[in-house]
Amino acid sequence: MRSSAMRDLMAITARPEVISLAGGQADTSTFPPETFAAQMTRIAQESAAEALQYGPTEGFAAMKAAICGVMAAEGMAPDPEDVIVTTGGQQAIDLITKTLVDPGDPVICEAPTYPGAVPVFSSYQAETHQVEMDGEGMKVDELEALLNRLDGDGRRPKFIYSVPTFQNPAGVTLSGERRRRLVELAREREVLVVEDNPYGLLRYEGEREPPLYLLDGGDYVIYVGTLSKILSPGIRLGWAVAPPPVMEKMALGKQATDLCTSTLAQYFAIEYFAEDRWREYVDSLCEVYRSRRDAMLEALERHFPEQATWTRPEGGMFVWATLPSYIDTSDLLAKALRENVAFVPGAAAYVDGQSGTSSMRLNFSGFDEDRIREGIRRIGEVVSEQVALYETITGEHRLPAASSSSPPGAEDREPDAEELPGQGGDVLPLRRRGKET
Ligand SMILES: Cc1ncc(COP(=O)(O)O)c(C=O)c1O
Repeated sequence: MRSSAMRDLMAITARPEVISLAGGQADTSTFPPETFAAQMTRIAQESAAEALQYGPTEGFAAMKAAICGVMAAEGMAPDPEDVIVTTGGQQAIDLITKTLVDPGDPVICEAPTYPGAVPVFSSYQAETHQVEMDGEGMKVDELEALLNRLDGDGRRPKFIYSVPTFQNPAGVTLSGERRRRLVELAREREVLVVEDNPYGLLRYEGEREPPLYLLDGGDYVIYVGTLSKILSPGIRLGWAVAPPPVMEKMALGKQATDLCTSTLAQYFAIEYFAEDRWREYVDSLCEVYRSRRDAMLEALERHFPEQATWTRPEGGMFVWATLPSYIDTSDLLAKALRENVAFVPGAAAYVDGQSGTSSMRLNFSGFDEDRIREGIRRIGEVVSEQVALYETITGEHRLPAASSSSPPGAEDREPDAEELPGQGGDVLPLRRRGKET
């Protein structure tokens, strides 16, 4: 088992003086407290006994209907019978892996991938392969080559895990053409695809791409959704839509894990989604986050050195920035924390723990524009110090590592990284968990 870098960071970043661009949180302060109070009061008055009781493992029918309503907003029409309500999307990823993967089985994901999926795959001892991305998402031709290589060894991956829309952590979106090819490949090779789509409704510009689930019709695509980004992560409500044989096993897995998803949380969500106002709330979130994204992109332009590159997401919550290869962002984080600012080091998004070491994930949804600007200014300062130090030591002035539309990950590393003198400069090694922070 591995620790989740994000979870580790939360302990440190909970301090109020820290500007944490490391989170992936919806800004729950935007949710009207009166709506919350009114709903909880109604539940207490009308359904207290039921809301405080255990519920069915697969979730309440009314909750599944609400979930189908959310999916309909992106054009999908799943059979409610194929839906299982889970304790967040995280549990859905866990249950899918628990159901399908035996130790040593191949699983494929993007490079970089959702940092929270890395400990799931490793805890079930999957052999995880990562496929590089560029500005159009996963390179599907490289995926095909990997499938061929595995096939040559008589192996087939248990599934391909993808966050095709406003990917966490890279912020990029899989192009329409690649979506169609990915679904085609899944069908040709009879390989399942797990589409994890927490951010699809959080689009701030550009044209919507069809979810993989919609393109495939649910034969080979298992869909994972969550209310964490459009309502609340605290209520811990997510779901999966899967073909019946997979669904049945997931329900068995869930029985063993937690019997059922919080009944109280489901009652809350059922009440909330009974009214169409939830769409207005999502629209208001898009307004808020668009402006924060713009603030972050402007601040990066202003405060990051010319050697840095970053993605420009059309939605979601994250920007992925890549620094020159001689900067290790895990080490840099220790320095940044001394300036009371945090980010997720890129290595957390790679299963080998070695790639992505010059990259960082930056979240723009959790704080207002001023705090984002200040956070980026502080990170920019520590990055600039490292760049200046490197240039002083080597006498070199390096060109930008990569353009912002080029691959957002390990491939940005320069080949001579290991030989660079003064690597890491005067940054401190990150203190181990459990010690003083
Ligand atoms: C891609 C992705 N999947 C799953 C999750 C898990 O979300 P939750 O368990 O809160 O639904 C997240 C949260 O950040 C995410 O970004």
